[in-house]
Amino acid sequence: MASDSGIGIHDLSFATTEFVLPHTALAEYNGTEIGKYHIGIGQESMSVPAADEDIVTLAAAAAAPIVERHGSERIRTVVFATESSIDQAKSGGVYVHSLLGLPSAARVVELKQACYGATAGLQFALGLVARDPSQQVLVIASDVSKYELDSPGEATQGAAAVAMLVGADPALIRFDGPSGLFTADVMDFWRPNYRDAALVDGQESISAYLQAVEGCWKDYTEQGGHSLDEFAAFCYHQPFTKMAYKAHRHLLNYCGFDTDKDVIEQGLGQTTAYNRVIGNSYTASVYLGLAALLDQAEDLTDRSIGFLSYGSGSVAEFFAGQVVPGYRDQLRTAEHQKAIARRTELDYAGYKELHERSFPTDGGDYPTPVQTGGQFRLAALRGHKRIYERR
Ligand code: CAA
Repeated sequence: MASDSGIGIHDLSFATTEFVLPHTALAEYNGTEIGKYHIGIGQESMSVPAADEDIVTLAAAAAAPIVERHGSERIRTVVFATESSIDQAKSGGVYVHSLLGLPSAARVVELKQACYGATAGLQFALGLVARDPSQQVLVIASDVSKYELDSPGEATQGAAAVAMLVGADPALIRFDGPSGLFTADVMDFWRPNYRDAALVDGQESISAYLQAVEGCWKDYTEQGGHSLDEFAAFCYHQPFTKMAYKAHRHLLNYCGFDTDKDVIEQGLGQTTAYNRVIGNSYTASVYLGLAALLDQAEDLTDRSIGFLSYGSGSVAEFFAGQVVPGYRDQLRTAEHQKAIARRTELDYAGYKELHERSFPTDGGDYPTPVQTGGQFRLAALRGHKRIYERR
């Protein structure tokens, strides 16, 4: 039986990389007018992983403060969502489970459906907790977004992980009402197994996203969800922050609401601060939007938030959550701001070198240079195995 106080996000923490590339450096290199990046796509900088960082080290760094605060006794499931997976068989979550010393009596699994994966994880977590409210589920979204050098997608890279502890009587967000669902088989963005950078049809991906917004909202209303004007704010998937503005304008239009600039800004302006400087973090993006909103907004107690999760290919979901009284005491605003501020700025040459780096595939011993100052690092690739260490 579910608890009377509902089920939702009890704690949320994010981590990002050692390095950052300002869009000014990219623009200077490729001759792009900076307004295209700062205004046209709404991005200022993008997180770049060090040679000894990957989705596992980012995920462990995001989840460690949660385990520190709450212990791990009640965590019986770890869901690891990513679309930049490091192995075709083993879940990245098992490495995180080990790095954090989580109980062996746990199930750990990796989920994939482009940027939508973590939302699937969250929904599955709600079901598990409804079945046994004494259990908690650790949902981790971790991704490194990588496009080819000199491609249009290059300016929309980034990397981050968000960890969420899902349980009964949550301290941050209580989910309520139905979900609006939408799936359509489209080739807007994909990454074949033989590539480490994604392929994308940029304009097609924007239309596919907007079509999915419409589709899942339609289903949400048919399932008896809230009306649009009941929401205090909207957290959209943000491949670049301008996309959230396009999506919200589209939704307001579709519902016959005013699409005035101020109305749109009011609906999502406070969700973009972290994505604007971190870049696309794929599965983590919509939850970075939530972190920015909770960390920055005036009191949101008891207000409803709409979530729009989109994963290319494509699957989308609209769902609602209510902000829990006392949530501000649980926030990690200072740590989040520190994670962003501690990054070291790269110049274009430094970024390019990291972008082009990859491990040989011959099974040899390849230690990584010590670059990250973080708690977790990818120390080597040895005999086809990734070797991680905790400092
Ligand atoms: N000042 C201000 N604005 C400027 C400008 C200037 N000097 N120059 C151009 N702009 C504006 C353009 O008018 C345009 O704005 P609108 O879209 O509002 O018209 C914007 O800057 C971008 O310009 P272009 O469309 O010409 O840019 P582009 O062709 O280089 O590509 C992109 C942009 C398609 C987003 C590309 O970066 C890309 O392919 N990114 C990866 C795909 C992506 O992120 N898709 C999003 C939906 S899919 C999804 O959400 C899943 C996912 O995570 C990938």
